[in-house]
Amino acid sequence: MADLLSLQQRAAQGEKLAILTGYDASFAAQLEAAGIDAILVGDSLGNVVQGQRSTLPVTLAEMIYHTAAVARGAGNTFIITDLPFGSYQASPEQALQSACALMAAGANCVKVEGGAVMLETVSFLTARGIPVCGHLGLLPQSFNSLGGYKVQAKTATAAEQLLTDASALADAGAAMIVLEAIPAALAKQATDAIAIPTIGIGAGVDCNGQVLVLYDMLGITPGKPPRFARNFMADTNSISEAIAAYITAVKQRTFPADKHSFHAT
Ligand code: KIV
Repeated sequence: MADLLSLQQRAAQGEKLAILTGYDASFAAQLEAAGIDAILVGDSLGNVVQGQRSTLPVTLAEMIYHTAAVARGAGNTFIITDLPFGSYQASPEQALQSACALMAAGANCVKVEGGAVMLETVSFLTARGIPVCGHLGLLPQSFNSLGGYKVQAKTATAAEQLLTDASALADAGAAMIVLEAIPAALAKQATDAIAIPTIGIGAGVDCNGQVLVLYDMLGITPGKPPRFARNFMADTNSISEAIAAYITAVKQRTFPADKHSFHAT
């Protein structure tokens, strides 16, 4: 199984990490068979599996259920699970309790959204043997404060803050950081500035890896797909071919293309 250190080393050596979300055993098995580098049990399952309007209603019990299903389907793949809204923001102790439940269900790493406010939690969990993935830029759990799902860090001040947060998360012990919906040039700056992998989603080709919502890359999410997503089923004949094509495109840097990326101006 790809462990955290080997993923970090491969990223440091220039290999692009290909990650997709997964929510159940059957898709997880397909992802593992295709050689995906890691599976993210994202709270996006609220949107794409449950049909919710946001990730906010997703519960810890649901994340445990889906993590266990993914772990059964892909027992040899590194699994990152989102700590859902309300399960970690109160205190590092609350985060530890929630993270332990996810790790017991099969997660190898947990993901938290936020910068400065999460530093204490990141170092608290990391010191207790729980790898933590940070998440900066567009934070879906904060869409109410952000005024919707918009590209982030377009001003010089916000870009500076994102760079500060990325370095601080790395210093606090984060294992990797998801950068969502930010200008590609800023994602490159953050990637160059820190020693841990950055995983982009709508953050340009220069991140150390990419992640997409599985249903977006299969073209089955209802409604208009996000601009940063690409439907890999459109050019392939099966789910396994589409996943393989995604992995190849990430490794060869043909995804994301410029049309999937954002710019500050
Ligand atoms: O929940 C999720 O799928 C995520 C990705 C958008 C990175 O957090």
